Amino acid sequence: TVPVIIDTDGGVDDALALIMALNSPQLDIKAITVVAGNINVEQATNNVLRVLSIVQPHTWPIVAKGCEKPLVKPLFNAAGIHGADGLGELDRFVQADGTPRYPQLNIEPSTDNAIDVILKAAQEYGDRLLIVTLGPLTNLATAIQQDAAIMKQIGRIVIMGGAVTVPGNITPAAEFNFFVDPDAAQVVMESGIALTLVGLDVAMKAPLPRQLVEDNLQRRPDKVTQFIADCTEIYMAFYRDYEGFYGCYLHDPLAMAVAIDPSLVTTESLYVMVETKGRFTTGLSLADRRDRRDHQNNPPNAEVCLDVDTQRFLKLFAQLV
Ligand code: BDR
Ligand code: CA
Repeated sequence: TVPVIIDTDGGVDDALALIMALNSPQLDIKAITVVAGNINVEQATNNVLRVLSIVQPHTWPIVAKGCEKPLVKPLFNAAGIHGADGLGELDRFVQADGTPRYPQLNIEPSTDNAIDVILKAAQEYGDRLLIVTLGPLTNLATAIQQDAAIMKQIGRIVIMGGAVTVPGNITPAAEFNFFVDPDAAQVVMESGIALTLVGLDVAMKAPLPRQLVEDNLQRRPDKVTQFIADCTEIYMAFYRDYEGFYGCYLHDPLAMAVAIDPSLVTTESLYVMVETKGRFTTGLSLADRRDRRDHQNNPPNAEVCLDVDTQRFLKLFAQLV
């Protein structure tokens, strides 16, 4: 098994990715570190603890709270898409007897800070460590700024973020995670760490229809399938109303799937930079895709996922979720 840290901003597709990871025999999840993004870091941490309490894994990973806001920009959240709590507004669901289906938790996160947890794991596991990021890159960038040498020793970071060959989602130019903290994304791109970029290029090729979630709940009604149906309701309604299909994209689960099985995607080594000051383009991930690339000054810094075997991915997703 591979020692893994998952860095997440606690949203709906983050929850699906966490469930996948917790059920994956290949991954040994040492810690879940939390960052502000879809929702504030306090609530995002609560959401992660909630997912753990529903899945009830044999061993609980450390859950550590990280950065409250991006390096430079103010926080821009996605409560309009993931629900006011960042997780589909779970408080509205009640059981037959009128009690809440998702009662308040009385679990606390670790007293350690996410950055310390990341640096400690980098030191302990070195090039065996895999980090999967599902939110803005603020925690990772902060860890790199604190100790670049230790961070350089880690094996790889699989990043859900960016859009290299397709338009953005939150703006015409930018994918959400890169838009929220472009300065952090740029620090990570420049870090010299081995990176895999799982961006909208592949995420938009693998939508999950609502019907599959409903069928799953019918076939195997349990705490987890009920939670998946509940937490995705508002998120999928957003796609139904604004994108014209009833379902959702599986951004974060796809990044997790690539961490589990890299053969699901085809990649190209590219030099990617992130726009931090654009008037219209902040958060844009710009890859040097010219025929005559400037390898001297711009050597490739990431494996960028450009295609995905959608059927095989959805099969793995269904197996683990
Ligand atoms: C990313 O933005 C977030 O809202 C999702 O959780 C995902 O990580 C997709 O652009
Ligand atoms: Ca996310």
